Amino acid sequence: MLKPSSEPLELFDQESTRATARVEDLREQIEKHNRLYYEHAMPEISDSEFDTLLRELADLEKAHPELANDDSPTRKVGGKPLEEFAPSTHIVPMQSLDNTYSPEELREFVTRVRKLAEGRPIHFTVEPKVDGVAISLLYEKGRLMRAATRGDGVTGDDVTQNVLTISNIPHKLHGQIPAEVEVRGEVYLPKAVFAQLNTERDEDGLPPFANPRNAAAGSIKQLDPSITASRRLSAVFYGIGAWTGEQPATGREMLAALQKWGLPISERILEGSDEDSVNAAVQQMDALRHDFAYETDGAVVKLDSLTLRREFGSTAKAPRWAIAYKYEPERAETKLLDITIQVGRTGTLTPVAELEPIFVSGSTVSRATLHNAEEIHRKDIRIGDTVLVEKAGEVIPAIVEVRKGLRNGSELIFEMPKQCPSCGSFVSKDGVSWKCTNPSCGAQVRRRIEHFASKQAMNVEGLGEALVSQLVDAGLLKSIADIYTLQREALLHLERMGERSASNLLAAIEESRSCSLWRLLNGLGIPHIGITSARDLANRFHTIDALSTTTVETLLSIHSIGEIMAMAIHAWFQKPENLALLESLRAAKLNFGEADTPTEATSNRLEGTIWVLTGTLSQSREEVAETIRLLGGKVTGSVSKKTTHLLAGEDAGSKLDKARELGISILDETAFRQLCG
Ligand code: IVH
Repeated sequence: MLKPSSEPLELFDQESTRATARVEDLREQIEKHNRLYYEHAMPEISDSEFDTLLRELADLEKAHPELANDDSPTRKVGGKPLEEFAPSTHIVPMQSLDNTYSPEELREFVTRVRKLAEGRPIHFTVEPKVDGVAISLLYEKGRLMRAATRGDGVTGDDVTQNVLTISNIPHKLHGQIPAEVEVRGEVYLPKAVFAQLNTERDEDGLPPFANPRNAAAGSIKQLDPSITASRRLSAVFYGIGAWTGEQPATGREMLAALQKWGLPISERILEGSDEDSVNAAVQQMDALRHDFAYETDGAVVKLDSLTLRREFGSTAKAPRWAIAYKYEPERAETKLLDITIQVGRTGTLTPVAELEPIFVSGSTVSRATLHNAEEIHRKDIRIGDTVLVEKAGEVIPAIVEVRKGLRNGSELIFEMPKQCPSCGSFVSKDGVSWKCTNPSCGAQVRRRIEHFASKQAMNVEGLGEALVSQLVDAGLLKSIADIYTLQREALLHLERMGERSASNLLAAIEESRSCSLWRLLNGLGIPHIGITSARDLANRFHTIDALSTTTVETLLSIHSIGEIMAMAIHAWFQKPENLALLESLRAAKLNFGEADTPTEATSNRLEGTIWVLTGTLSQSREEVAETIRLLGGKVTGSVSKKTTHLLAGEDAGSKLDKARELGISILDETAFRQLCG
């Protein structure tokens, strides 16, 4: 047998001892700076110096896995490491706002509010609409007890550990504070930090964040709080969700209270009292907002009186007393360097504009979709043109104009390729688009898997574009069904895949086996079928088997299913390759539905909630339970740690006490009806 010479072993020993000492030293330093930062709010080093220490430690732990341990500051910040986010149900649902882009509609809003006020005086505040991630903080006796994201408005993710790392969020409020108060605001990545973070990511070989909002959302949803800490997030607060004791009379007083307690609020709050002054304030805000630390996409106009706010209430989606005025997206001029082709999951070839990178509406744009060849020809867009780029809804960039006067004759007219750029198969015309005719085309397979795993379908967390690509390239995924045969060992051979990521991925895959039927139906990628039609199909057929053997006529009797869809569904279930896929998924024990399942949820307002009903209600328990189920919630008989809501009627007894003990959200019938819309 070969024996290694002793020399490298000795060297290895020396290096290992040095590493052990350095790891200990780094851990000590980092713990000290953590304490200074979190407990004393008196940091001695800059964030980037802190990051450098943390990065060195992480690198050493990676190189010497034997030195890693769960108590290392790379795994936690001021708290234990998280396995996953716990759901957190909001005491009062977090609604969104109605939007408008026009001064006329803004006038109509003011007029509407005046009518509702029936002669009582009205006054408005005009605040910046911060483009970040909505956050709800619960303070009990002044202490920050829980922080949650908005989620679906009813239930969000408990991100307390991460929020504790945000430097301008106080862990303790001061002054005269209500016993319990739930405040709301926006977590954002300061514009300046965003640019810096992307430069750092570029140097580290990581992809840049698309915009500050995405970066903030990604940072707040990190399982490892030390990553959140390294992102230098900030927050600003604009409202109160729930509050014990005496309430202030106006929105301005509420903001003043937030500020007094130590919470950051917007630096500029303008005012108005009629159509003209509100419009003027909104215009003034547009001129001011570029100097704010955060990205803004509009102004929020709010009726100031809290009494009137309560009286006017909300529609199912948004309050009647507020409106968001969205500013027109910015435009910028740049060069169209090339037009490339992206292959979608159904084989559609989409031309993509490759642009000279340009900063517009808060982020750098280097690509834009061109939809289809006809649109390119209609707009006469040529390679080499100078074009105007705009971000629709601030995210998706589009070419809105060609500067034809700037042409010099070297511009090239685009032609659609005759072969698929991914697999080389011939392409055929389908309406306005061109399609790759090969169902096993690598690009299509990737897109199909990405769609299957996406949030709107099987929701396999972690299985996004990058990982799918990696798995397909490694030959581990050839079809959707392969997701369910992935082995830990094979995963661990992938680059950047550690034990923890592998476990998380496998757990997410495992969980997806029991997804609702509509998710599976959506995930299969049947042409023309989206979330709504998938839900309707699940409601009507209850099982894949019933759906697969139905007729086009029966399909047509469903409200949301038209002729093209009905034919597409029918045709999909005739194809041998699709039937083979279904058999593999059945063997993988995915939820194919049950023949006698009760009606599926028609809306997901209460998805993820678990209810207990108690006391005397104005409807029968069964009726109420059915309502909850229709909205995606579950109903159980007894209160446990898993219960998220208790609906308490009159004379509620021990269940109410137990729910209080466990801190479960308790609603009376009025609140319940509001929640259900
Ligand atoms: S007040 C009932 N004020 O915009 C909702 N929202 O599009 C009351 N937002 O979910 C919200 N800046 O996350 C309010 N100054 C501001 C805001 C603001 C940003 C966000 C918030 C809300 C979303 C609605």
